[in-house]
Amino acid sequence: AAVEKGNFHHFMQKEIFEQPTAVAQTLTSYLRRSDNSVALPQFDFDLSAIKRLTIVACGTSYYAGLVAKYWFEHFAKLPVDVDVASEFRYRDPVLEDGGLALFISQSGETADTLAALRHCKQARQTIGVVVNVPTSTMAREADLLLPTHAGPEIGVASTKAFTCQLAVLAALAAHMAVTKGRMSREEEKEVVQHLLEVPASLNAALDHDEDIAAMAHLIAPARDVLYLGRGQDFPLAMEGALKLKEISYIHAEGYASGEMKHGPIALIDEKVPVIVIAPSGPLFEKTVSNMEEVRARGGKIVLISDAKGLAEAGEGCMATIEMPRVHPLIAPMVYAIPVQLLAYHVACVKGTDIDQPRNLAKSVTVE
Ligand code: G6P
Repeated sequence: AAVEKGNFHHFMQKEIFEQPTAVAQTLTSYLRRSDNSVALPQFDFDLSAIKRLTIVACGTSYYAGLVAKYWFEHFAKLPVDVDVASEFRYRDPVLEDGGLALFISQSGETADTLAALRHCKQARQTIGVVVNVPTSTMAREADLLLPTHAGPEIGVASTKAFTCQLAVLAALAAHMAVTKGRMSREEEKEVVQHLLEVPASLNAALDHDEDIAAMAHLIAPARDVLYLGRGQDFPLAMEGALKLKEISYIHAEGYASGEMKHGPIALIDEKVPVIVIAPSGPLFEKTVSNMEEVRARGGKIVLISDAKGLAEAGEGCMATIEMPRVHPLIAPMVYAIPVQLLAYHVACVKGTDIDQPRNLAKSVTVE
């Protein structure tokens, strides 16, 4: 049956609001409630023998891979490479035996990603696929098929597929950590507990929809927007910039907060809004000093943080968005919401064709 927009103005908006349900649905198939463990679908190789991970994807799926790198390193102590598919194939990636090559794709049909998959297969890598379309080509060619259960995604700019990819990748990282003896059963239970909190935290984030709509007119006139984040929130900054570019046609860049002084700071003046994605935590202080650098140059800041972060650094910002206080593991999923909503509402102010932005395709099946 054809998917309909219902009460929403756009598919993208509908899909943003579907995330609590889509992520819950996805997690259901990876978390075993009877003993609070992580469970993967059936596969036929020795997961504990995997020595390194190569993640390849395009667009938003690539950013999900970049976030997950932090988890695989932190939990499973696995060395991880992440690359965009179009680059990966044309360098000479060193693929030793015992490697798992992981492909992330909403459609399962992106030409570059598929070509990279086949390249890795030839190089005797075990093939893992995180994919939203279970009947897709990539799904068929996988040794380890990890479906996201986001349901059909119609809006060209990816939203719910992204958070569902993150949910699957977090579960996979925890499972690999357990398999490799890097995570105790107790720790695994804690991770499961945090993952189970995701849908409620996504709902709490969605509660800020109206505030974000109200601040969109502050961003809409900008020619350039800078997104800053640190650690696992750095890829989210890039995803935020991508969303804004895709649907509002405003030039945006995502940068690592600490790297700003090596270039983008030259762009900052009162016309460049700077969106700072920074949950409170050990590195928050450092981000605050980056914010000072922006402020000293007249830059206008939108700070997305939790109550603690906003109390510490919210003053003097052009706008703030308060997120629930969440465990760092689930923060990228929760903070994806304001980033998506901001792009969405800015595009609404600009009156662009949100579900079918110019020059873009839902699935790029040519190289
Ligand atoms: C296109 C879409 C993006 C998507 C990317 C990768 O550029 O517009 O939203 O992130 O392809 O697609 P995939 O289906 O492989 O995740």
